[in-house]
Formats: sequence, structure tokens, C-alpha cells
Amino acid sequence: MLSSITHFLRVGVSGCQGSSRSMATIISGNKTSKLVRERLRTEVDKMRTEVSGFRPSLLVLQVGHRDDSNLYISTKLKAAAEIGIDAKHVRLPRTATQDDVLQSILSINEDESVHGLIVQLPLDSVNQINTELITNSVSPDKDVDGLSCINAGKLSRGDLNDCFIPCTPNGCMELIRQTGMTVEGKHAVVIGRSKIVGAPMHDLLLWKHATVTTCHSKTPDLPEQVSRADILVVGAGRAEMVRGEWIKEGAVVIDCGINHVPDETKASGKRVVGDVHFASANQRAGFITPVPGGVGPMTVAMLMQNTVQSAKRFLLWRKMSQ
Ligand code: GUN
Repeated sequence: MLSSITHFLRVGVSGCQGSSRSMATIISGNKTSKLVRERLRTEVDKMRTEVSGFRPSLLVLQVGHRDDSNLYISTKLKAAAEIGIDAKHVRLPRTATQDDVLQSILSINEDESVHGLIVQLPLDSVNQINTELITNSVSPDKDVDGLSCINAGKLSRGDLNDCFIPCTPNGCMELIRQTGMTVEGKHAVVIGRSKIVGAPMHDLLLWKHATVTTCHSKTPDLPEQVSRADILVVGAGRAEMVRGEWIKEGAVVIDCGINHVPDETKASGKRVVGDVHFASANQRAGFITPVPGGVGPMTVAMLMQNTVQSAKRFLLWRKMSQ
């Protein structure tokens, strides 16, 4: 029975009945994120017409100047500009103290012209700063990263329509939707339990009615757990740790990893790989996300979506309080 379902899935998707296909269908985050960004652009244009000159706004607060964070931030600012979101980047020096960062957040919380505020992580300071305290100081109404306890708590209780959903897991759900696979009733396995990826991913899949197993560094039988997954989401932060042989035939595989490994054939001397060994997983999965070009662009698109959502809520609140 299982193999016939798998066969249907593979042949049905490839559209070439009769021929056997050994490769998975690639789920393109580049294409899907472009569609999301185009939709958002139309929504923002409409807002600007309806409320003269109004634009959603996003502020990215950075502490220090890590190269990887600089790159992520410039990608976010570029995406925002293309959609018509007014995005600002505020950088505090590496010498900033916890109080300095808190002061900045509290004043941005008060600023009605900012609808979305994210603090780029990790914090790059010479001083000891409690990251949890910082992410919890962002007003839940502007927390478009969805990292505050209020938003995380709502998500864990299943109040999906009353919170900001963290961008990477939200993007993963969008990519799973693209496959046409129903989440309800499926067995989903999440590897990793970080606040930004694994834990909220677990919650989202659970409230979309999957049976969810979350694995982590102390899980003793990882290959066994992975082999049960109809949907596998990996956010472990370890290059190519999930091997194709572990994966169930026809599974949907979503790879959130971004790892740099040495590669002498590249001018830079390195290349980017995910947490899944792509070449072997591609032989077993029904659908798989590439790295790069999979989850990464979706994270940015979902941040833009949350910002537009926050701006809409602001306009509603302003109208109601007039
Ligand atoms: N650092 C890496 N990814 C993210 C993200 O999605 N949000 C924030 N704030 N920092 C990050």
C-alpha cells in the first residue's frame, strides 16, 4: 500500500506516467518567494492609494558588524525597497551595552511610524548581553520576527491568527503547501529545537494537524526517527548531517541549513551546503528544497509579509481609535 502511494506521488507529480524517476521534485524558494513578494507589492500599492502616502515600515536593529549579518540585512533591505516597504537599518557599535540596546528598543517601540522591528541575531557586542531579554523587549505588536514570549506562546497554543509567526518556519510551511501534500494526519519530523526554527516549526506542523516528532542533539536514534517522516524539516546547523539512506521514499524534505564548507574548486575556496546531504536525499525524497535557493529566500519573503500584516493592524487600530 505504501509503495503504491509513493509511486502515485512521484509519477503524478512528474507527469510522466510509466517512466520511473529517481530524482525528487525541487521546491524552489526563489520562485515561491518571488510570487509572495509580487503579491505584497500589490498590497502595499493598494495601501498607499487608500491611505494617502502610507507605507509599511520595518526597522532592523544591529549590534556590531558581523559579515554574515551584514549580508542578511542588505538582502532584507533590498527586498523591502522592491515591495515599497520603508526599511531602516540602525547599527549600534560593538561597545554597546545591554542598557543601550534596551533603550533603543524601547524608543522604537514608542515610535508609531515603525510597524515592524527586528533585532538581527546573533548580537555582536564586546559586552555581555542577554539575547532573550532583548528579543522579549520588542513590543509584541511590532515583533515581526515572532521571537517574543507573547508571540511564541500564542503559537504554541495554536492561536496562529493572533500572532506573528517566525519567518523561517512560516516559509517552510509555504514550501510544503507548494508540494500539494496535505499536512493533516502526516508524520512530521523536525530536527533542531531552536527558538527561531525548530520549536516554532514543531508548533506550526502540530496545529496543522500533523503528528510531530522533534529530534535534537540528544536523540539517540536519529536515522530511525527520520525514516518515519512523511515531512522532514531540518534546522540542525550541521553540514550534510542527514543522509539520503535515512529518508522515507517520497518524503517532503525541507532543509533550513546554511553551512560553509571548504571547496578548492571555487574561487572563494568554499561553498554553501544545507543540513541534508542533497545528492543522496534527492534519490529518495519526493520533494526537496535546494540550498541555496530554498528556505533562505522564503525567510525574507515571510519577514516582508509579517511587516505588511503589522502595518495593516496598525491602520485598523488607528481607525478604531479615532
Ligand atoms: N539571524 C539569522 N536569521 C535571523 C532571523 O530570521 N531573524 C533575526 N532577527 N536574526 C537572524
